[in-house]
Amino acid sequence: MKSCCTGVGQVRVLVGESVRYAPCPDCDAGMRRMGIPERFWSAHVRDFGTHLPAAVATWRGQLPGWILSGAVGVGKTHLAAALARSAAAAGREASFVPVAQLLQETRRGYSRDIAVGLAAEAWLLRLNSPVVILDDLGIERITEDRLDVLQRQFEAWYDRDTALVITTNLGPAELRARYGDRVLSRLFQTTQLLPISGRDRRIPVAI
Ligand SMILES: Nc1ncnc2c1ncn2[C@@H]1O[C@H](COP(=O)(O)OP(=O)(O)O)[C@@H](O)[C@H]1O
Ligand SMILES: [Mg+2]
Ligand SMILES: [Zn+2]
Repeated sequence: MKSCCTGVGQVRVLVGESVRYAPCPDCDAGMRRMGIPERFWSAHVRDFGTHLPAAVATWRGQLPGWILSGAVGVGKTHLAAALARSAAAAGREASFVPVAQLLQETRRGYSRDIAVGLAAEAWLLRLNSPVVILDDLGIERITEDRLDVLQRQFEAWYDRDTALVITTNLGPAELRARYGDRVLSRLFQTTQLLPISGRDRRIPVAI
């Protein structure tokens, strides 16, 4: 058992006079608690060496957040998971939210099956975290209803001063075309764009 949080995944942090609880940044239990997929439990900003701008390497979960934009496999989700750890280390709870699952759970929230509806509602509580890691924005098939759900959610995050870390294959112009001017102007107010380039890390170099 780890000594950091004795396996609970949560630690007490003192912020000024008040005590807060935040995910443990030092072990797998903390990463699990934030909903991060197991593949990324060891992700840390130091994995990127000197390639990261200082503002990213020293980010502590505050506004502005980040839009990590780049091709498939370049390490966007790995960096996003690392930034969740950075936020936790600063005492801010981060939650990992795959866009596809956000849409699925929203739909399940309307289920007539009470157990299904309650489970969906419980999952959706993570949208209220002070830091939200929104993974794979733009891969969802968009419909009028889904667009409406996402636009309203972005509005809520803006109103709550949520720090967003977004991973996406889309660039700013494509995001604007897809989600509209209103969403994009808010996103650009509350995040910084970090284009990520490089090779697909899932493909071995010598093939
Ligand atoms: N800096 C890094 N150090 C170690 N492994 C990395 C790093 N960046 C990415 N990876 C690994 O490479 C694979 C692809 O990265 P991923 O973040 O899933 O890409 P993307 O989200 O851009 O499609 C993952 O298994 C990830 O853990
Ligand atoms: Mg990814
Ligand atoms: Zn721990």
